Amino acid sequence: MTVLPGALNFPEGFLWGTATASYQIEGAATADGRAPSIWDTFSHTPGKTFHGDTGDIACDHYHRFEEDVDLMAGLGLGAYRFSIAWPRVQPDGRGPVNQPGLDFYRRLVDRLLQKGIRPVVTLYHWDLPQPLQDDGGWVNRATPDRFADFASLVAGALGDAVHLWVTLNEPWVSAFVGHELGQHAPGISSTSKAVKAAHNLLRAHGTAVRALRASLPAGAQVGITLNLAPVHPATPAEEDTRAAERVSDYVNGWFLDPVLRGNYPEQLHARYAQMMTEDFVHSGDMADIKADIDFLGVNYYTTRTVASGRSNDRGDHYSERVATPMGRRPLPPYLDAVQTTVPGAARTTKGWAIQPDGLRELLMWLTSRYGRLPLYVTENGAAFSDYVDPNGAVHDPERIDYLRSHFTAAHQAITAGVDLRGYFVWSLLDNFEWADGYSQRFGLVFVDFKSQERTAKRSARFMAEVCQTNAVGPSAT
Ligand code: FCB
Repeated sequence: MTVLPGALNFPEGFLWGTATASYQIEGAATADGRAPSIWDTFSHTPGKTFHGDTGDIACDHYHRFEEDVDLMAGLGLGAYRFSIAWPRVQPDGRGPVNQPGLDFYRRLVDRLLQKGIRPVVTLYHWDLPQPLQDDGGWVNRATPDRFADFASLVAGALGDAVHLWVTLNEPWVSAFVGHELGQHAPGISSTSKAVKAAHNLLRAHGTAVRALRASLPAGAQVGITLNLAPVHPATPAEEDTRAAERVSDYVNGWFLDPVLRGNYPEQLHARYAQMMTEDFVHSGDMADIKADIDFLGVNYYTTRTVASGRSNDRGDHYSERVATPMGRRPLPPYLDAVQTTVPGAARTTKGWAIQPDGLRELLMWLTSRYGRLPLYVTENGAAFSDYVDPNGAVHDPERIDYLRSHFTAAHQAITAGVDLRGYFVWSLLDNFEWADGYSQRFGLVFVDFKSQERTAKRSARFMAEVCQTNAVGPSAT
């Protein structure tokens, strides 16, 4: 191992990469037998996305994946996390495979391997086949079985080449942003449906872990990716501390505890009790959900600060002030908590406060609360107002600072004993940022959505240096 003097050196074999998701980059919405997903339906519904943007074309990655893999290879990236579009592989969400759709991922994986990049597959990054939604989607207890079938199918096709598998990406967002807040597909506003969807997503994870283990060669690593955030009380007052615990149960514990401990957080469970009746939650479900995983994927963007109470008096009109027009995510009233701003914190264009220390805190909290399990940062990154300057360059010093400070926080966590194995920057390309459409540029590579021209930003160079040296150098790049 080469050790750079004066730099933060990461452990040997540490995996550096970027992450994307199928609906956000692929486009080619009707190519080769792909059928609509809930995100096609949602984004084509007037008023649901910024500007009415859709993923119909996105980055046209489906047709340009070779160029995109070459871009990654040029940067010396070691790994690439991408997701499989279920409606490409099984357009009806069940039944026979659509071979051309599956072949696309085989070509992608082969190309990555040829270039020395490790493929990391996410099976579900929110694009549920629409026909399954027509049958109730994640609120239907049968959907997890469909997902397990899909998982086996993909594992059968790619298992020889892919060693890291993520079942679900951010089930909290699928369940609560999609079914309680109604801001993501399928656009439902019902706490009861959200809680049911969450339970079925967790069951889908458990059944898929078993299905993957049955199909994959020994040594394959299987895990789940959760969006997690330290939740801080706005003041040391007891009532704010309690509010922070309630919010942490909602955003963190509701998925972490079932997956890692086999139970739901007690207090929130009591609140949802009427919705989780015995005809819906069967005995044996919790044991199914607590399938042994090999790693936990952590998506970290920012911390949350909360105060107790329902009015926005103490909430500083948080959601109006610090979110994009489509991205306001007020806390549900039953949590009796409001989100407040972090005083003085710089923000990304998405409105999220830049809080690198929160990453260290989160990784250490996970390790102390759940034991020393292998972790990957499966997403972390930032959106800024990037543009191509007259010389054809994209200078994004804020993103370089953002990444440097977060990589540093991860290094501190490793030094403190956290078993962090890799780090995936969100994202490789500017892309379709869900309800925010194309208004948020998260990429290391700038995409001109009219010409589809790609331009590596300065931050891509910084990332290349980090990957190639497995270290974060001392000076600003
Ligand atoms: C995460 C999603 C990812 C992307 C980033 C910014 O919640 O997993 O697809 O939208 O946020």
